[in-house]
Amino acid sequence: MPDPSGGPAAGQLEHDLAEAFGVSHAVAVSSGTAALHTALSAGGIGPGDEVLVPALSVVMTVAPLAVLGATPVFVDSDPGTLDVDYDDAARKLTSRTRAILPVHLWGRMGDPAALTAFASAHDLIVIEDAAQAAGTARDGHRAGTIGTIGCFSMKDGKILWSGEGGFLLTDHSDLAEHAAAFRSHWQPAPSGHEPLSRLATNSRLAAPLAAIARANVRRLPDLVARRRAQTRHLLHALEQVPGLAALAPAAGEDWNGYSPLLRIDLPHARKFTEHLAQHGVSNSTGSFRLIPCDTRPMFSPRGQPCRGAAQILDHTLAVLLTERDNEATLDHYAAIITREATTWAA
Ligand SMILES: Cc1ncc(COP(=O)(O)O)c(C=O)c1O
Repeated sequence: MPDPSGGPAAGQLEHDLAEAFGVSHAVAVSSGTAALHTALSAGGIGPGDEVLVPALSVVMTVAPLAVLGATPVFVDSDPGTLDVDYDDAARKLTSRTRAILPVHLWGRMGDPAALTAFASAHDLIVIEDAAQAAGTARDGHRAGTIGTIGCFSMKDGKILWSGEGGFLLTDHSDLAEHAAAFRSHWQPAPSGHEPLSRLATNSRLAAPLAAIARANVRRLPDLVARRRAQTRHLLHALEQVPGLAALAPAAGEDWNGYSPLLRIDLPHARKFTEHLAQHGVSNSTGSFRLIPCDTRPMFSPRGQPCRGAAQILDHTLAVLLTERDNEATLDHYAAIITREATTWAA
């Protein structure tokens, strides 16, 4: 039976995505959340399994693994690098740990060598949440292609957007087959399986969205260049503002510039981000109450809170951009941030 998922548009998109990211398989789905859900299912994650995931993550990263019956085990992040704190991750390993799910928040991807070494030392599969990281590379490795499966969102505001949508990347044909079945109620079924013989989801990407996504894959280098230029422009305009300092990417990191990032050294830093949101500067912590996931009650947190993650989120201004933001909009944001930080610092 032909794959009913999104018709030929989804298949063409998958072909172009695999080529653009240099991987064997792409599977298009309806959202980044669906990509993570599908990837975790393909990775065999289920009840009783523990998955190491940074507390420095969004609800959408953790919800799919909880829905599959697995347990999120929150690990801290290093405030100096924003990368996973691998000492903390090592302390939290148990005989039930099956996977690590790094989150490349704000397009920063962490050290790929450290991730690969940790995962292979402990026999873990790696599912990357690269929802915000299309276009980032480090030491020659593209975000979303280091692990077993990489997951992306194409929600509006993402660099590679289609309004709503997502996809996953993998070099493993069996995992791609599982993912294609899982996103469409196990139809077409992987070889050796009967169609509709397993619980799954409808996470198909609608054909019109696949067509938009495909047009944007063709201009991916331009979209990444535009976001980098926007971020450079805003950070340059904020260079002399009291209490704010740009967070530079790591050496060897070719950052996609997803979100202009500034360390806030002002009193009541989180309140400052909320204040900016009220004045029209949309940002991660102030507009969307981005708090460490280990403090969210629905994930039944246990153990000590992840202090590095809290420190990062309490002191980072991450301005949210879209492709539509032109220089006038960025200058307007810069004027508001400058005025409010100057008053706040006084
Ligand atoms: C880091 C991260 N993970 C997961 C998601 C979920 O993606 P979506 O909103 O497309 O379901 C998003 C986007 O919202 C995200 O930014």
